[in-house]
Amino acid sequence: MKEFVTKLRDDHSDFESGKLEDDIKSTDPMLLFQKWYEEAYERNCSEPHAVTISTVNKDLQPSSRTVYMKELIEEGIVFYTNYESQKAQDIAENPKVSALFYWDCLERQVRLNGVAEKVPEEMSDDYFNSRPRGSQLGAWASKQSAAIQDRASLEKAYNAVEERFKGQDVPRPEFWGGYLIRPTYIEFWQGRPSRLHDRICFVKDKNRWEVHRKNP
Ligand SMILES: Cc1cc2nc3c(=O)[nH]c(=O)nc-3n(C[C@H](O)[C@H](O)[C@H](O)COP(=O)(O)O)c2cc1C
Repeated sequence: MKEFVTKLRDDHSDFESGKLEDDIKSTDPMLLFQKWYEEAYERNCSEPHAVTISTVNKDLQPSSRTVYMKELIEEGIVFYTNYESQKAQDIAENPKVSALFYWDCLERQVRLNGVAEKVPEEMSDDYFNSRPRGSQLGAWASKQSAAIQDRASLEKAYNAVEERFKGQDVPRPEFWGGYLIRPTYIEFWQGRPSRLHDRICFVKDKNRWEVHRKNP
């Protein structure tokens, strides 16, 4: 093991790039989220639209994976995936999910807890049609999350769909589309010195957002 791995506990770097004043509490949290995303993009944070989605299956086993946020709308955030994947099976059993963005260049984290639902088919069609052809074919070729014999089997499946759709547009597979996460809890976290971080949390109560600050 390299020495820096054995010295993980010695990394005591501090956070000092921003702060969250209490007056932020009067902001609409989805507008604030949009502002933070825009700042992460404009500050060239690495992959600012990468988001870790956690699902919980019927045995209460949580599972997390990274996806890309592809739409940011008033109601929430949208990502696209295979509707037969592990995450989709989890969501079918339990639509409650958690989404986590970490923007290291701004020392910010946003947690969105909420409920996932499939987006309308036209929305998935629209996004699928905008994808590069290779990604469209890949969506057909991959039985996402299912076990596979070897890499060659995957490439064979890709070649087969390439042949199948030769000379024509690739339609969206029925088993592929988007999920909208409608948040019921949005937490904005800004790193601060001495681990005295700012945490401002919005909790949806019927149609209004309750807001409070939490201890770091
Ligand atoms: C940066 C990054 C972005 C990803 N974006 C997506 C995505 O938008 N949709 C998707 O289905 N998988 C995406 N993946 C792959 C997922 O992390 C995951 O491996 C896959 O969706 C299968 O997850 P599951 O078996 O839990 O359903 C991405 C992975 C990384 C590292």
